[in-house]
Amino acid sequence: MIADVSKSNKIVVEKSTVPVKTAEAIEKILTHNSKGIDFQILSNPEFLAEGTAIQDLFNPDRVLIGGRETPAGQKAIAALRDVYAHWVPVDRIICSNLWSAELSKLAANAFLAQRISSVNAMSALCEATGADVSQVAHAVGKDTRIGPKFLNASVGFGGSCFQKDILNLVYICECNGLPEVANYWKQVIKINDYQKTRFVNRIVSSMFNTVSGKKIAILGFAFKKDTGDTRETPAIDVCKGLLGDKALLSIYDPQVNEEQIQRDLAMKKFDWDHPVHLQPMSPTSIKQVNVVWDAYAATKDAHGVCILTEWDEFKTLDYQRIYDNMRKPAFIFDGRNVVDEAKLRAIGFIVYSIGKPLDQWLKDMPAVA
Ligand code: UGA
Repeated sequence: MIADVSKSNKIVVEKSTVPVKTAEAIEKILTHNSKGIDFQILSNPEFLAEGTAIQDLFNPDRVLIGGRETPAGQKAIAALRDVYAHWVPVDRIICSNLWSAELSKLAANAFLAQRISSVNAMSALCEATGADVSQVAHAVGKDTRIGPKFLNASVGFGGSCFQKDILNLVYICECNGLPEVANYWKQVIKINDYQKTRFVNRIVSSMFNTVSGKKIAILGFAFKKDTGDTRETPAIDVCKGLLGDKALLSIYDPQVNEEQIQRDLAMKKFDWDHPVHLQPMSPTSIKQVNVVWDAYAATKDAHGVCILTEWDEFKTLDYQRIYDNMRKPAFIFDGRNVVDEAKLRAIGFIVYSIGKPLDQWLKDMPAVA
C-alpha cells in the first residue's frame, strides 16, 4: 500500500515488535514495487510499558534506531534521530544496524522476563527453606551490577509481550541451529508456568485437597495494576486451574469487565490474538464464574481469597470486615505480596504469600498436589 501511494522517497519506520529480519522483508517488498522511489526502512522498537506509557515516552531510558549501514541508511537514521532529539538527550538515542535494533527489543524483554522467572524460582526455594524472597531480592538487588528493579516475586508474569517475544526468540534460535540457546530461553517460560501451577496447588492442598464447590474470591484479573489488559494474565491460568477442580469463582477487578473475564476463561491459549468474533464463549465457565463490582461482594461467604493483581486498593481493604464475612478457616493466597501478613494473621486468616515463610498450616500441606 505504501508503494502504491508514494510519489517521493520515503522512510518507513517499524515500531511494532516483529520477528527479526522483518525490516528486510518490508524492504524487499517495497523495492520490488518502488517505481524508482527510494525506501529506507528503519527499526525503532517501542519500549514503553502499559500503565506508564506517557512517562516512558517523555523520559525514555533509551531510544533505539536501526538502519542500513549505507549513506542513504545513515541519512534516514539521522532524520529520525532529529525528531527524537526535540525531547530526548542525544546520548540516550542509540543508532545501530537493522538486525541489532530488532533483536535488542526481543533481548530486552527476554532479560526482563528472565529476572522475574529467576526471582520466582527463588521464591519456591524460599518457601522450602524458610527464607523470605523479598529479603533475598533486596539483598541481591543492592549489588549495583544487578540493580533493584523487576525483582518482585509474583504468581507469574503476564502481558501480551514477554511470552510472545521469548517464543519468537526461541523460534529464531531453532531456525538458526542453536537448540541449546533456544532451550535456555524456553526455561524462562517453563518457570513462569510452574509458578502458576504451584500457586494453584498451594490453594488446593491448603483447602483440604479440594476446592470443589467452594467459593473462591479472585481479587484482580488484569496482568498488572493500572491497566484493564488481560492478555496472558496469570489470572487466566490460575482461574482455569481452580475451575478444573470445580471451584466457584467470584471475581473482582477494578478495570476488567465481566464480558472480558468470561471470554478469557472460555478461550484457548493464544486465542486472544484473534478478532473478538472468532473467540469462543463457553456456557460451562459462565455457570461457575461470577463477576462482581467490589472486593467485599467477591469475598462474602468465600472460603478463600486469591490476590492476582497488585492493585493499590487491595492494600487498604478492611480485612477485618472481609474476615468476618468469610467461611472459616479463612484463607488468603497473595499472589502479588501486597498484604501485610502479620496483620492478617492477627485477624485470624491463614495467609500464603509467594516466597515467604509458611504458616504452620501450609507447612503441613505439601505444595505439590
Ligand atoms: C513490557 C516491558 O516492560 C516494556 O519495556 C516493553 O516495551 C513492553 O513489554 C512491550 O514489549 O510492549 P508490559 O508488558 O506493559 O511491558 O509490562 P511490565 O511492567 O513489563 O510487566 C510484565 C509482567 O511482569 C506483569 O504481569 C507484571 O506484573 C510482571 N512483573 C513485573 C512481575 O511479576 N515482577 C516484577 O518485578 C515486575
